[in-house]
Amino acid sequence: MKNIKTLFVWLAFLLLAAQFSQAQTASQEQIEKGKYLAVAGDCIACHTAPEGMPFAGGLPMHTPFGVLYSTNITPDKNTGIGKYSYELFRQTMHEGKGSAGHLYPAMPYTSYTLLTEEDTQALYAYFMSLPAVMQVNRDNEIAFPFNLRFGLGFWKALFAEDTSFEKDPDKSVNWNRGNYLVNALGHCGECHTPRNFTMELDLTRPMQGNVIAGFEASDITPGRLIAQGWTKPELASLFKNGYSDKGTVFGEMSMVVYHSLSRLNESDMNAVTSYLLDSDKPVEAKPIIARTPDKKAAGHNTYVNMCSGCHGLEGQGKPKIAPAMQSNATINRPSLYNSVAVLLRGIPSQKYNATTAFYAMDSFEELSNQEMADLINYMRKAWTDESPNVTADQVSRIRDELEGDGLIGVGSGHAEF
Ligand code: HEC
Ligand code: HEC
Ligand code: HEC
Repeated sequence: MKNIKTLFVWLAFLLLAAQFSQAQTASQEQIEKGKYLAVAGDCIACHTAPEGMPFAGGLPMHTPFGVLYSTNITPDKNTGIGKYSYELFRQTMHEGKGSAGHLYPAMPYTSYTLLTEEDTQALYAYFMSLPAVMQVNRDNEIAFPFNLRFGLGFWKALFAEDTSFEKDPDKSVNWNRGNYLVNALGHCGECHTPRNFTMELDLTRPMQGNVIAGFEASDITPGRLIAQGWTKPELASLFKNGYSDKGTVFGEMSMVVYHSLSRLNESDMNAVTSYLLDSDKPVEAKPIIARTPDKKAAGHNTYVNMCSGCHGLEGQGKPKIAPAMQSNATINRPSLYNSVAVLLRGIPSQKYNATTAFYAMDSFEELSNQEMADLINYMRKAWTDESPNVTADQVSRIRDELEGDGLIGVGSGHAEF
């Protein structure tokens, strides 16, 4: 009798142990998956302060209402999210409501709300597996009444919905995966979609471009990208290396490439580029427009004297020094915002990955508004399909805006990773 009892105890133990080890291996897989999803979701970019511990928060984020600091999302019980149950984590990611109450939409839960249950669970498993870092969250410097979190509840009640991702049955698995990566995890629209006066994303104009921190997160709708001549391999090169035949990334986009897009696996990269160009098939390359620049045009001398040393007399660029101006996506688009902003701000030297870096480009703020308009018109006419209709007035407006934000001549603050 005693033996039978012992046998039962042993059997029960073995069963439990088997279950336990199964749970362990499943969660190891889950953790690996969560780690990759955290990269695709770019959590590190916002939740890590310069020189700070990964995911321990403290990055200042400038909003129209004051400075907001990202929080510690390591599993420290007192200063991080160690006490978060899965339910609370899910609610934070999908509804923007954490242990402190309603979150500011600087945490892009309006996109993460599209995450699948499975992916939300994997993210939770990953964050709970990280080493806990004890780092107290910084107090926000947000002005009254925006510092009152319950006010955010009203904003959310009006504008934010906990929606779930819906596959488009008429599109391929690849395209749907791209849609999910771009709109849910990648939260590309948080920068690229314009906002209306309530700061709500204007979903009637998805990805049509929005100025953020002094550069325009440009129009990346399929129509625009195709008109600029982007192909899947060129977009993949831009996202993998930070540059392509159509130029480089700069400003906030450098961070997105460095921390997130460049680390996607090949099949996800293919999905993202297929979705952005809305085509599973290769998109045909538009031939590079190579006209002989008009030597008598206003702007010609400025280009030759100030730009050609790096960008080439024919706008052909120089490997490892500076990108081509021929068919450059920054110039080859109706919006002139970034063409002007780059000239006024300059770009600090950027390191894209272990082997790729570009020179810095100084600011050319000394050029008058008219000289700048002439220069951009000259480049548009020589090397793109855009009409050379930029006026000094338009340049002046952008200069005023950047001056107001103290951004002239300072490059992008985010170049050193
Ligand atoms: C664009 C910036 C940004 C990105 C990207 C981002 N977060 Fe956040 N997150 C924030 C900010 C800012 C807060 C604090 C908001 C507040 O205090 O209202 C926050 C808060 C949180 C919280 C609540 C923590 C607490 O202290 O209660 C969690 C959990 C969280 N984020 C997880 C994530 C995860 C997981 C990812 C990646 C999938 C991510 N975040 C990506 C900006 C970001
Ligand atoms: C010292 C070399 C140098 C000079 C001189 C220079 N540039 Fe640049 N320029 C660069 C580099 C390097 C980049 C890319 C930086 C990056 O994104 O990392 C760049 C980027 C640009 C871009 C953004 C496009 C893109 O694809 O990144 C434009 C537009 C541009 N330059 C125009 C000009 C014009 C117009 C002039 C003359 C007024 C000029 N540049 C002078 C080095 C230079
Ligand atoms: C934090 C803000 C931010 C986020 C998030 C963001 N972008 Fe951008 N993006 C920018 C800015 C600013 C520019 C303009 C500077 C440039 O051309 O590199 C840009 C430019 C681009 C360009 C045009 C580059 C060129 O050379 O013309 C593409 C394509 C792009 N982004 C794709 C994406 C995709 C895909 C995602 C999501 C995975 C994304 N972006 C997320 C800010 C952002």
